[in-house]
Amino acid sequence: MSRYAVVSNDPDFLRSLRAAATGDLAGEVQVWEGGGFPASPNDVLVRLAAPSTLDVLILGPGMPMEAAFRLAGEFETQVPDVTVLLAARPSPDVVLAAMRAGIRDVMEPEADVAMVTDLLRRAVRSTAIRRSAANPQDRHSTQGAAGRVITVVSPKGGVGKTTIASNIAVGLAKSAPHGTVLVDLDLQFGDVSNALAISPEHSVTDAVHGPARRDTMVLKTFLTAHPSGLYALCAPESPDAADHLTGEDIAHLLVQLASQYRYVVVDTGAGLSDHTLAALDKATDFVFVSSMDVPGVRGMRKELDVLAELGMTPLKRHMVLNGADFKAGVSRQDAETALGTSVDVVIPHARAVRISTNQGIPLLQGTSRGPVPKALQQLLARFVAPTAPPRKHGPRHRIGS
Ligand SMILES: Nc1ncnc2c1ncn2[C@@H]1O[C@H](COP(=O)(O)OP(=O)(O)OP(=O)(O)O)[C@@H](O)[C@H]1O
Ligand SMILES: [Mg+2]
Repeated sequence: MSRYAVVSNDPDFLRSLRAAATGDLAGEVQVWEGGGFPASPNDVLVRLAAPSTLDVLILGPGMPMEAAFRLAGEFETQVPDVTVLLAARPSPDVVLAAMRAGIRDVMEPEADVAMVTDLLRRAVRSTAIRRSAANPQDRHSTQGAAGRVITVVSPKGGVGKTTIASNIAVGLAKSAPHGTVLVDLDLQFGDVSNALAISPEHSVTDAVHGPARRDTMVLKTFLTAHPSGLYALCAPESPDAADHLTGEDIAHLLVQLASQYRYVVVDTGAGLSDHTLAALDKATDFVFVSSMDVPGVRGMRKELDVLAELGMTPLKRHMVLNGADFKAGVSRQDAETALGTSVDVVIPHARAVRISTNQGIPLLQGTSRGPVPKALQQLLARFVAPTAPPRKHGPRHRIGS
């Protein structure tokens, strides 16, 4: 059973479409009934009873071309697993613009039932292929989160959490385009938008309240696309907004995202806020980031102890020492002794990191070489390896008693 949404007021076209949506293509045809035309995927999706079941959007006769191309382009970046068709006179200019906007096929406005059936069949198949390519695991699984949730934490500020989270995310997006999302849970002073040089229109607040909470397809329209193929969900503009978000909101959000994306990378603020604890509770991977100095390592040791007391242990743990300067008096071995655990990756100090932060271009976005990209690649390789086995029973972590 497929689900079609159509924007058109042409009764003949709607009749053909309904006749085509039968047999093996049987499905509900929902007609846009708003005044004017939808301006964004969100406009279309929030009107549907169950947005996440939408398979094909048909921009029918009557919709102005400019508006149709703009809307199709936004579907292509925000919800690329919905296939878009256009009914318009297929002149070379229209076909070229349609192709650029990510429209799958163009049909004559007077297309007969056989033609509409043919295009619908291809569109439904295209949706199925896009969905399985975006997430080879069973995305409709009811077994819980399928994707890997990688939460980056440290007890201290300014030690490189955002740098590391944004590099991991961009690096993973290269291996899984449209399969990676970066969430900024440094809710008061998050700067993922600066680290990626993007201007988000929506934030975590929009994603956890309203229809996005109930439907993952609406949630996707609140993500900001980055040229690397990564999606980002940025922190709210106002630091006060964090007060209106609970740990439960964050947990729900991460489960939703992990059901849709292969990798969910979470940047956090310093310390163990309720939001960070919720992100750790839903994580498959903890990335601990410490500076390579005595206060940094001591703080990290305390954080490890607190998490152990809370019974929070990840499926995989990655200990990173960042900004290492071996002349400063703390060796990797000293750090390992003080932490009581091995260090997995050491990222040296380099001016290039600060430059990349200031430019908003993570080092792994480009092809730059050197000790820092090399260490970041080493960290990345730990996630690209086969995923951890899915959890079978009950919660993996416990917060408090
Ligand atoms: N390996 C490094 N070498 C040099 N500079 C670095 C390195 N890692 C991070 N920095 C710089 O340190 C600054 C702080 O980094 P970042 O914002 O990633 O830290 P953070 O832990 O996210 O901070 P906050 O807790 O404030 O969110 C940035 O200007 C960044 O460019
Ligand atoms: Mg940060």
